[in-house]
Amino acid sequence: MSFPKDFKWGASSSSAQFEGAFDVDGKGPTTWDYEKKRLNSGCCSFKYASDFYHHYKEDIALMAEMGFQIFRMSISWARILPDGEGEVNEKGIAFYKDVFRECHKHGIEPLVTIYHFDLPAALAEKYNGWSSRRTADAYVEYCRILFENFKEDVHYWLTNNEYNVMIYYGAVDMLTGKANDLNELYNTGHTQLVAMAKAISLCHEMCPDAKIGPAPNLCACYPASSNAKDVLAAMNMEDLRNNMWVDPLVFGEYPKSIQTYFHWNHIVLDIQEGDMDALKNCHPDFIGFNCYGTETIEHCDYYEIDWDSIVHGDNRDMSYLVKLTEKPGVGKAVNNPYLETGIDGHTFDPYCIRITARKLSDRYHLPLIITENGYGRKDTLEEDGTIHDAYRIEHLKGMISEMKNGIEEGALMFGYCPWSAVDLVSTREGISKRYGFIYVDRDEDDEKAKTSPMKRYRKDSFYWYKKVIASNGEDVE
Ligand code: BG6
Repeated sequence: MSFPKDFKWGASSSSAQFEGAFDVDGKGPTTWDYEKKRLNSGCCSFKYASDFYHHYKEDIALMAEMGFQIFRMSISWARILPDGEGEVNEKGIAFYKDVFRECHKHGIEPLVTIYHFDLPAALAEKYNGWSSRRTADAYVEYCRILFENFKEDVHYWLTNNEYNVMIYYGAVDMLTGKANDLNELYNTGHTQLVAMAKAISLCHEMCPDAKIGPAPNLCACYPASSNAKDVLAAMNMEDLRNNMWVDPLVFGEYPKSIQTYFHWNHIVLDIQEGDMDALKNCHPDFIGFNCYGTETIEHCDYYEIDWDSIVHGDNRDMSYLVKLTEKPGVGKAVNNPYLETGIDGHTFDPYCIRITARKLSDRYHLPLIITENGYGRKDTLEEDGTIHDAYRIEHLKGMISEMKNGIEEGALMFGYCPWSAVDLVSTREGISKRYGFIYVDRDEDDEKAKTSPMKRYRKDSFYWYKKVIASNGEDVE
């Protein structure tokens, strides 16, 4: 047995990191348009990104040349609703209609994320984002507009991208530092889960032929040793970083260990009337998950932590949150001595999809699709227009080979969309850190990017992935 006959090969992107045209055709500002919130200095903004807005025909044709059957992209909420709610921007609707039409023309199924970090700025200003149920109400209304307008065009929807990462690494939604305490932090997560559950039910009602699922970042957590305390710590970490973000949508409840964790840390979720019913009754059709690696967890003793740096930090380290659980199994993330480290310090764990997908299949019995996976590196555009990215090929080869083994062992995978189809702007490291199969000729200089033709080039990995797809994953050499 190997990859299923109808396995879907493609790749991913997100509106803020890819589209550019940040103020074109009526798009409203998003939290990502505030450059002051960027993490690394010297990086470009998201204003022009890879200008997919004006290159979509060329990009989709290149994806088709690689043989894509699916393309994961996201809709910019503020392009549809410039203020996050209220008046609809028809030009935004028209743009995505064109993109979907172009995909279908080439036999590519769009896999559409409803919300990938770029919150309309108006919702951040008025409601402090997901801290308020008003944002959740606006989101459900936004979903209604999408389902109404795109029910003929989109057959695969994803709700929110990495809503778990938004809680643990606050900087990604550029709203970091606004939660006042852990209560508020976890309540923004609960609010998103309930909003997503309502979106899933609404999709089933309005688009009966479509399928919809969430897109968290999930990864297997290895115990640092066979010491039972490390094993427990790793289990708890999986509950905290993975299961508590999927169980409510599939089973209608938080894992028991998380309820205990909340109790120990005096975290009280604001569970309103109807929340748990919305969660219980939504029934996602599949689980999309971003998976770049694994975590290795070691037991550590409880100690006092600096609350302020955790709650207000740009990069909330999950291990600190786990330290607060005290019993049973307190843990922190440590290096895994068995993993290979690349020249840039990146660790490779080709088993990450295989092991994570098997665990998810056992727990949820739902179809799974990789919505992100990959290797961000600086690439060099040679004078003859070639890009020799053997490192990326090597990395993806390992992932795909082990994913195949996972499928043979029962992982319920139906598709693979690594990050990213075309180069786009990294959340922290600008355009220099590249992930694509297709190179975009631009650098960190926004002024230059504004008028640059952003010419596209095929990387070595482009030709390699084309072969992988043509052989349905059999030929990865
Ligand atoms: C995922 C996000 O966490 O990781 C993407 O969903 C992001 O938006 C990707 O780009 C890679 O991370 P980075 O920081 O290199 O952009």
